[in-house]
Amino acid sequence: MARLRRTLDAGQQGFDAILDDRAAVSAAVREGRRLARLADTLVLDGIGGSALGPLALQTALRPRRRRLVVLDNVDPEGVSAKLLGLDAARTAVNVVTKSGSTAETMANLLILLDWMERRLGPRHVRRWTATTDPKKGELLVLARRLGIPALQIPPNVGGRFSVLTAVGLLPAAFLGLDVDGLLDGARAMRRHCWTASAQRNVGVLGAVLMHGMATRRGRNILITMPYADGLVHLADWYRQLWAESLGKRRDRRGRLAETGQTPVTSLGATDQHSQVQLYMEGPQDKVVAFLEVQAVSKDVRIPRRHQDLDSLGYLGGRTLGELIAAEKRGTEIALTAAGRPSLTYLLPRISAHVVGQLLYLFELQTALSGELYGIDAFDQPGVEAGKMAAYALMGRKGHEKDAARLKRELGRRRAVV
Ligand code: PA5
Repeated sequence: MARLRRTLDAGQQGFDAILDDRAAVSAAVREGRRLARLADTLVLDGIGGSALGPLALQTALRPRRRRLVVLDNVDPEGVSAKLLGLDAARTAVNVVTKSGSTAETMANLLILLDWMERRLGPRHVRRWTATTDPKKGELLVLARRLGIPALQIPPNVGGRFSVLTAVGLLPAAFLGLDVDGLLDGARAMRRHCWTASAQRNVGVLGAVLMHGMATRRGRNILITMPYADGLVHLADWYRQLWAESLGKRRDRRGRLAETGQTPVTSLGATDQHSQVQLYMEGPQDKVVAFLEVQAVSKDVRIPRRHQDLDSLGYLGGRTLGELIAAEKRGTEIALTAAGRPSLTYLLPRISAHVVGQLLYLFELQTALSGELYGIDAFDQPGVEAGKMAAYALMGRKGHEKDAARLKRELGRRRAVV
């Protein structure tokens, strides 16, 4: 904890301090609202940490009148299908990339520029905003060239820790979500995590528990299982955070470590009919983290009909909220009886405040887990290697040597097959 505190205080990592950067928050909110006056759909062109946070916010907080369409993958059929569903005159674009050069994002950027210009003419650029590093990367150059406003991702905030910067806040403001609630929630959790005693501290307990599960009990798979459709993308966001931060070959001293738990998203009750058999009886290598929502915003009563039939009669008059709560409890009890460890994050409801708390909690737990493993939780050499390979194979300038080496390797593999 002390080491992490020093890292944050020295400004080497900024996921904590961004909560107090009121100027950056106002700029993101202003820009999100400006785009909302022009469009009801925001296309977010970005991938990984530049896309998963905003998607999690939209899914959890369910905006009413506006929507976010995420263009992350470069599957030609997927991109074409998404574009087909758009009306350019009702669309704004937020291109998000910390490095300002990720191949997937840049390819989709070129496609979107062309698509928008063909439909709206040169004035389409007023519907664009870029979100990127303030100093490096060619997105900045392009934004200046086209006259597109550029918001900042602070250099000391990595992609997967950036949801509470302009990366998440601009889309949140566009969608009309409660940005103040989100940030207040994150600050409240920050207060808790940095002041509560270790035994009552949900940030410390989560990190210590998971680290112990992985290193002492062989529980190398972490299943995050919300019993709420709205939290499924938040679990996906957490999956990336946990995987990229903790999956490291070497520790801080350069020794071989090969750390990390494989994070999996599972949805209750749906995956009770798909995955839970394995969790219950398969290899003893998993720990389940449930997300349980205590009060749903709108429950649904199950009508009393055909009460004489056993499989229907007991349901009539109850609610779906009661049923999903029973499903979760049943699974938890059965897992415990089968000797399978689990824990539950009990959420009073799904609100901006609660989501803000969860985001900060998971970021802090991840950073603390990095300390426990003795690794750097904030770099991602494996991701960078993949990016370099894509640049090389697609013929980007400066990557010729890598291209030649990769082509040789590919040739050898084909020969073996
Ligand atoms: O968390 C990370 O660092 C990565 O997942 C990045 O977010 C992802 O690779 C996209 O990078 P960029 O934002 O530079 O386009």
